[in-house]
Amino acid sequence: MSTSPLSQLAQQTDELLSSIAAFETLEALRDAEPVLTGKRSLLSTLQKSLGSLEPDERKSAGAQLQEARRTIESALEDRRAVLLRQERLVSLEADRMDLGDVVLGEVPWSLSVGHPGLVALTQRELEDVFVGMGFSVADGPEVESDWYNFEALNIPPAHPARGMWDTFYVDLGESETVVLRTHTSPTQIHLMEQAVANDSLPIHSVMPGRCFRRDTPDASHLYSFHQIEGLVVDRGITFGDLAGVIETFTRAYFGPDISSRLRPGYFPFTEPSAEFEVTCTICKGAGCRTCSNTGWIELGGCGMLDPAVLEAVGIDGEEWSGFAFGFGIDRCAQMRHELSDMRALIENDTRFLGQFS
Ligand code: FA5
Repeated sequence: MSTSPLSQLAQQTDELLSSIAAFETLEALRDAEPVLTGKRSLLSTLQKSLGSLEPDERKSAGAQLQEARRTIESALEDRRAVLLRQERLVSLEADRMDLGDVVLGEVPWSLSVGHPGLVALTQRELEDVFVGMGFSVADGPEVESDWYNFEALNIPPAHPARGMWDTFYVDLGESETVVLRTHTSPTQIHLMEQAVANDSLPIHSVMPGRCFRRDTPDASHLYSFHQIEGLVVDRGITFGDLAGVIETFTRAYFGPDISSRLRPGYFPFTEPSAEFEVTCTICKGAGCRTCSNTGWIELGGCGMLDPAVLEAVGIDGEEWSGFAFGFGIDRCAQMRHELSDMRALIENDTRFLGQFS
């Protein structure tokens, strides 16, 4: 009678179980699996050899082999679970931070703390300049009704000037339309209405805030940008007062090296109106992409309050007069810091933003 190929099976199974118990890492266990249970394993070789046995011997040998395979596979699973748990504990330990070492007021790692962006810093500086000149600072809503953004500013429906300030309209039904404001000028209307209601004229205020237009971004335009509006309503105000305020602001904010000029312009809510421009700081007036080769950058518009606007808010134009202006805050930042492309302000590149902390 020939010796059964399974005569050593019990001993061989014990040896395999010992080798499984000796694996120290999941990686070693994974590498050894094909040799333990795969096609090249002892179990598979023994399985193939069963063909040489008599049928009744083959049946019981097959059952023994099945049992041995089950034992080995279950030992593999148990060892894998133990090693998984161990590796997790090691990784948790590595991540542990002993807060007992932290001294109040210090952090044990290098933290990068944020700071206001260049536009916010510029807004504060502009507010400071105007507060220094005797203006107060007021706020207005970013979502306006058609009345405040256009009609009260002497821009009736279908007026061609609406084209310059096209924006996002939301029709709320029942003939109510709201718009993302295209300029800070509607805040003038809110302020004048409040002053009339509270009988608190005169007004000397600036109103900074975010505006929206359908403009395609380029070197000097964004679709969402900021303006600072100025409004003076008082007795005996002239264009000379307006020009004086603009000139004083230019010197205070840009310093004596920057030239400014007022050029005749058109706004439906001021009469006469002017464009306020400063020398392009990128090319020093020679002409470049940023200033469309003019040597000048338009910072804003201004003018004397149109009588139609005073009438719309119920202010007596015989007794009161005034002026208004609106500058781009992002443009001021661009010219002051010589940024050739305004889009840098919204790209969130920390290498750029970090220069203005
Ligand atoms: C106005 O918005 C008027 N409301 C200004 C005004 C106020 C006139 C009060 C008279 C009295 P304008 O559309 O020109 O005007 O915009 C004023 C300034 O806002 C521009 O000179 C520019 O500095 C800034 N600005 C306008 N559009 C953009 C834009 N897309 N991106 C960045 N800045 C802009």
